[in-house]
Parts: sequence; structure tokens; C-alpha cells
Amino acid sequence: MIDQPILVIGATGKTGSRVAAKLDARGLLVRRGARRSDTPFDWEDQSTWAPILTGVSKAYVTYFPDLAFPGAIEKLEAFAKVALETGLEHIVLLSGRGEHFASMGEEVIRNSGLGFTIVRSAWFAQNFSEGYLRDPILGGVLPMPGGGIAEPIIDIDDIADVVVAALTEDGHLGERYEVTGPRLMTFAEMAGVLTTTIGRPIQHVPITFEDFHANVAASGNTFVADVFTAIARETLDGRNAYTADGVERALGRKPRDFAEFAQTAMAAGAWPNAA
Ligand SMILES: NC(=O)c1ccc[n+]([C@@H]2O[C@H](COP(=O)([O-])OP(=O)(O)OC[C@H]3O[C@@H](n4cnc5c(N)ncnc54)[C@H](OP(=O)(O)O)[C@@H]3O)[C@@H](O)[C@H]2O)c1
Repeated sequence: MIDQPILVIGATGKTGSRVAAKLDARGLLVRRGARRSDTPFDWEDQSTWAPILTGVSKAYVTYFPDLAFPGAIEKLEAFAKVALETGLEHIVLLSGRGEHFASMGEEVIRNSGLGFTIVRSAWFAQNFSEGYLRDPILGGVLPMPGGGIAEPIIDIDDIADVVVAALTEDGHLGERYEVTGPRLMTFAEMAGVLTTTIGRPIQHVPITFEDFHANVAASGNTFVADVFTAIARETLDGRNAYTADGVERALGRKPRDFAEFAQTAMAAGAWPNAA
């Protein structure tokens, strides 16, 4: 029986909004954490942490922008301390596969004294429909570094289902679920699926990591580009080119295929001018 609200940090983001909506749909009380939520939460302002944590025993936590940013691990550690003091019992942390700093974040949570579940995720399919690759897709291109590397890209609705299971069912404490889609795909193969689904050519454009850096720098700043390029170099070197069974272990079903993601996103209007 869950009588306290469940906290979702990053509740307006890609995974957090889905987790919050799925908890709402079950009639559960949700406390949303973001900078403009009813109780504001800001990773940059520690005075906002205790108020949002008070009175909750379970929380889903996404760190923004990424655990690889300077100071992130220290902030996560400080957040976990406040969470322990305010009575949090179970934290579900979103982490990334094959990332040094994400692994450090996982260790912080493992050693925090809190009950935990780690959801260590592959690349999000929704990067194409809601993230920074949506604009290029609307322009008919998928510019990606990493050559012909394959990635078991995941539909984040599956991540949200795993998180909700971890927050609402017994049996997930202490688990680390490595969550991926059901198959390895090259970015050229993903572009092929998007071409079929959207109904016009989406061209995979192999780019260098230097080009990737320039693209990110053009839409943000150089420092952000440095960090995200480092993550891209780290994770697109072949180390993540295998599927894992986290979705099946947590949910007892297979993850959704990229083609299903593309059809659902198309039907929801993700690429309105592209058809
Ligand atoms: N993209 C991928 O392929 C991938 C793969 C594996 C893991 N990840 C991890 O996923 C995490 C991001 O999760 P997501 O994609 O679900 O989120 P997201 O869509 O990037 O949304 C970010 C969330 O953080 C909030 N936020 C922004 N600045 C904040 C601040 N200073 N303090 C508090 N909240 C802030 C935003 O809310 P407001 O702006 O409303 O405050 C929003 O709710 C990252 O840690 C990333 O490493 C991503």
C-alpha cells in the first residue's frame, strides 16, 4: 500500500513525464520535481532539496544534464544524504550504459544507505522524436558519429514501465536493470526504418566526432559540446554493442522494437512536416 506521494525528479523531461503520467494513471499520488513545479526543485540550489523530499519514501531521479558534467557526482551524493535524512527509503536512478561518470553515480547511490534500483539505459529512441535529433530528422538527415557502430536503441516507454514497476512492486530493490531495445541497429538501419515510417528519405550521414562537436556547439555552447562529445566518443566505440535483458527481467516481457517506436511517434505527430 503506497499512501505517500511518489517523487519524480525531472518530471517535465522525456522519461520523468512518462513515469509521472503512468503513476497518475494508476491513481497514485505523484510529487513532480522540476524547476517550476509546485514545489520547485533545482540541482543548482540545495535549499530546494529537503522541501521536495520531505514526506516521500520513494523517488525516481534523473540527473540533468548528465552525470558527466562537473560537480554532478558530488551533487548526487549530497542529494542522497539529504534524502536519507528526510526519510527516503527507495531511490530509482536513471543511469547510462558504458559511461564512466554514470557508473560513479551508480556507486554513490549503492553506497548511500538508501534502498535503490538502478536503471542503466541504452540510447533513447526518443532522441529522434523529442530530443536534439528531431530537427535533423525533420530536415531529412541523421548525422551521427561512430561509423557503422550498432546500438540497441530503446523506446523510453519501456524505461518508464521498468521505473514504475520498481516504484510500485516488490522485488526490485538492489537490482540494476540494464535496459536496451530488442536488437542491435546501426544508425543507417534506424534511418531506414524512419524513411519507411515517415514516408520520405531520412539519410544517415556519417560524421566525425569533430563535426558532432561543432553541431552541438552551434545549438548550445562549447563546454556543453565538449561534455556530450566525450560521452559520444565513450559510448559509440563498440562497448555497448550488445543487447541486455533488463526490460525482460523487470517486466517479464520483451522490449518494444524501434519500428514500433517510430510508428507510435509518427502517429502522435512527432514529425508533422516531414510526411
Ligand atoms: N538521451 C539518451 O539517449 C540517454 C541515455 C541514457 C541515459 N540518459 C540520461 O537521461 C537523463 C535525462 O533524463 P531525461 O531525458 O528523461 O530528461 P530530459 O528530457 O533531459 O529533461 C530534463 C529534466 O530535468 C529538469 N531540469 C533541467 N534543469 C534542471 C535543474 N537545474 N534542476 C532540476 N531539474 C532540472 C527539466 O525540467 P525543467 O526544465 O522544467 O526544470 C526536465 O524535467 C540524463 O542524466 C542522461 O544522462 C540519456
